[in-house]
Amino acid sequence: MVSDAMSTGTDMPGEILLSKERIAERVAELGHDITRDYAGEAPLLVGVLKGAFVFMADLARAVDLPLEVDFMAVSSYGNATRTSGVVRIVKDLDVDLSGRHVLVVEDIIDSGLTLNYLRRNLRSRGPASLEVCALLVRSGRQADELDLRYVGFEIPPDFVVGYGLDVAERYRNLPHIARFEPATPGA
Ligand code: IMP
Ligand code: MG
Repeated sequence: MVSDAMSTGTDMPGEILLSKERIAERVAELGHDITRDYAGEAPLLVGVLKGAFVFMADLARAVDLPLEVDFMAVSSYGNATRTSGVVRIVKDLDVDLSGRHVLVVEDIIDSGLTLNYLRRNLRSRGPASLEVCALLVRSGRQADELDLRYVGFEIPPDFVVGYGLDVAERYRNLPHIARFEPATPGA
């Protein structure tokens, strides 16, 4: 039962989709690509809270450049499971983007609506360049071509948790990424 899982804390989400070793390997590759592509620059990594906080911490340490980090928090209007595309900025950036090479760091792209809103908003602030690094992209869910410069993994439609991703604010601290399956009695 859900209440047992909550009280013992030993109940785990479902099957591991991406192990911590596989994530680490891919993050190292992404860091290498970013280091090569931004050679000679000091990019600004913009993490989208809260989901991107773990990925951001690992990615930033995999990039061998004099980078800066900043964070934004957004909340989307509409119900909890589907974003409406109308996004409210809950915490804005501290730094000015004009002339900066900005790399948006996202946990997961589902419909792409959140990202498209963010991109329009950030572009209006006059960055020298604006690219996206998404750890996960859910296949076949985006209406438009998204133009994502860096993608960690494409994943199937299942809801996932761990490595920063939550369900109702839980499981962000799992070191791996797992399918989320509600607890089954007797399992
Ligand atoms: P989009 O606007 O539909 O692309 O929604 C993206 C946002 O929804 C992400 O930044 C996550 O916060 C959340 N999200 C989408 N799928 C998942 C999931 O499988 N696990 C946890 N959060 C998710
Ligand atoms: Mg979330």
